[in-house]
Amino acid sequence: MQGSANLNLMIKAARKAGRSLVKDFREVENLQVSMKGAGDFVSRADIAAEKIIKDELLSARPNYGWVGEESDAEEGADPTRRWIVDPLDGTTNFLHGLPHWAVSIGLEHKGEVVAGVIFDPAKDEMFIAEKGNGAWMNETRLRVSGRTRMIEALFATGLPFGGRADLPETIRDLGRLLPACSGVRRWGAAALDMAYVAAGRLDGYWERGLHSWDVAAGIVILREAGGLVEPLSPGGDMLEDGQLICANEKIFDQFARVIRNVA
Ligand code: IPD
Repeated sequence: MQGSANLNLMIKAARKAGRSLVKDFREVENLQVSMKGAGDFVSRADIAAEKIIKDELLSARPNYGWVGEESDAEEGADPTRRWIVDPLDGTTNFLHGLPHWAVSIGLEHKGEVVAGVIFDPAKDEMFIAEKGNGAWMNETRLRVSGRTRMIEALFATGLPFGGRADLPETIRDLGRLLPACSGVRRWGAAALDMAYVAAGRLDGYWERGLHSWDVAAGIVILREAGGLVEPLSPGGDMLEDGQLICANEKIFDQFARVIRNVA
């Protein structure tokens, strides 16, 4: 795919941060004896990766705004454009030595995400998309799955941990969905859950309690792969509310009816 200068910049920043995170990931295993030590180390790795991305993106586009998981949001001189960045999505996986985490970079223009990059360095999978230009994983064009039957479909979600308020709702969702489908995965990295729906590996995904940096890149990648993504509560704002539902376009309505609990 022939990407724009912005997309190439995002890819370059994601690769650079990925290299730094891979080095740190190799160290994490040695630190597991002390969870506190490992936790502090991982948050330093996370912050360092965000700095790499921020330096790369803002030195090339100093007038864009910035939203990142690890630093304060900044309004740019150009109020219509902002980077939305999660330097390390899947932090808990990273901390536990599980090779399933990603760098996620979205570019928003006038309230819409127009370009996205999700990079999984452990598997060397780079998911990219730009509005109107399709979605790609490395050299392969992405297309959502064509499954139409709920009973054959595989979904993913996030399970609320650590006393999060949305646990009862998620348990109720699972109670309705599990008997009707072929399985629900909890992989632990929202950006990759969305990339996997775009790649047709999963048929759908939903979650509450997310942040804009978890989902920005995934929204455009999914749409460009032919998927549907909507706020979980119709009419909401996906980047602000932190809850969404997405799926291949054929199964979306059936899946959404189960999750939204409408007849
Ligand atoms: C988390 C992951 C996880 C999701 C959480 C997110 P983080 O992001 O995406 O899958 O269930 O809601 O906060 O903290 O690893 O960047």
